[in-house]
Amino acid sequence: MAKPEFKNPFRPGAGQMPPYLAGRDEETEEFKRLLRQDTILENMVLTGLRGTGKTVLLETFKPTAISVGWLWAGADLSESASVSEDTVALRLMTDLAIVTSSMVVAAQEEPGFGFNPQRSVVEQKLNYDALIARYKLTPGLVADKLKRVLEDVWTELKRRGAKGMVFAYDEAQNMSDHPHKEQYPLSLLLDVFQSIQRKGIPFMLALTGLPTLFPKLVETRTFSERMFRVLFLDRLSDDASRDAISKPIKAAAGCPVKLSDTLVNRIVNASAGYPYFIQFICREVYDVALQKLDRGQELMVPMNDIVRKLDADFFAGRWAKASDRQRDLLRVIASLENCDEEFTVHEVVQASKNLEKPFGASHVNQMLAALGNAGLVYKNRHGKYSFAVPLLGQFILRQSE
Ligand SMILES: Nc1ncnc2c1ncn2[C@@H]1O[C@H](COP(=O)(O)OP(=O)(O)O)[C@@H](O)[C@H]1O
Ligand SMILES: [Mg+2]
Repeated sequence: MAKPEFKNPFRPGAGQMPPYLAGRDEETEEFKRLLRQDTILENMVLTGLRGTGKTVLLETFKPTAISVGWLWAGADLSESASVSEDTVALRLMTDLAIVTSSMVVAAQEEPGFGFNPQRSVVEQKLNYDALIARYKLTPGLVADKLKRVLEDVWTELKRRGAKGMVFAYDEAQNMSDHPHKEQYPLSLLLDVFQSIQRKGIPFMLALTGLPTLFPKLVETRTFSERMFRVLFLDRLSDDASRDAISKPIKAAAGCPVKLSDTLVNRIVNASAGYPYFIQFICREVYDVALQKLDRGQELMVPMNDIVRKLDADFFAGRWAKASDRQRDLLRVIASLENCDEEFTVHEVVQASKNLEKPFGASHVNQMLAALGNAGLVYKNRHGKYSFAVPLLGQFILRQSE
């Protein structure tokens, strides 16, 4: 009989640490390699579709970095973080201050006065106010001020034996320059880090974001091409998927749920190895399994119902926002054999020829741009397109059934 203490271990949800982080050894090794740099020549970009595990992997890099003597500062980048150059500078100093605020940089003796002639010692800490004060006192442009603060902070950190500091920013695809407002926050970030790294300061950027991120960096500053090592998180291999499914269940001592190999393979297939889908399906399967055990029945998993629930949960909202004509176009794309990889405007135009109202090339271009803004497709650096949501093609085909 199942007992209530067996809590469902699976964690579908953005940024939710999975019970077992499967695969990703190569990426972790690569990150460790970057940490071995004395002079930072390569920074990290961790990219991939939604739900592939960028946020949770970045989270595991933090203890890895700290264990080899690095410090870690970071945050989630909302669009508001890149409104202006000043807001980016403030963002960086806010994150820095969390690490540095307890560091005493000077102890000043203050003379006593009046009835209390004893001298007292006032400690000066490298907290937010101190960073801001340095920033404001430095003459020049935002970049000059920020570099000065970062250089000063490094002098203090180095004295304390730090190896370096990782600046980790999640959802970094949100950053943009705004030429119409004469604000260049993304350029600022890249320029400042390139400049201090040249001076030998080991402050490393670790940016994560959707596949639009790296092309955006290169478009903003061509030197980004050389400045970043891009790690692309793809679906998990079959073996890693099986680990993600079975290990959390095996790990729960006395866990009454057992999944047959056949069932595990069905989950691997239905999820296609996408981490979010694995967590989602496993959570449902686990609940079903627990209940069935209660009633002493054999385990029958309603995979179609689970996939339908996943559709409602993950895809339906995005689909609902598309117009009728956009849906027509998405159906054409979903009918392409290579829709899960990349496709060209030409292929879409060709495939639409047997529609009642076919699409012309310029129309397709225009609509793909709109779908890009809606977060459903993206254009890669070679001018080809991909779905921006994993397994979107299969979902669309299910809708037409
Ligand atoms: N390597 C992995 N093994 C198992 N589950 C994972 C793995 N990586 C991510 N997940 C799960 O996938 C979901 C999405 O992870 P998240 O880091 O939010 O993705 P992203 O930031 O790429 O959108 C979460 O529910 C998480 O628990
Ligand atoms: Mg994320």
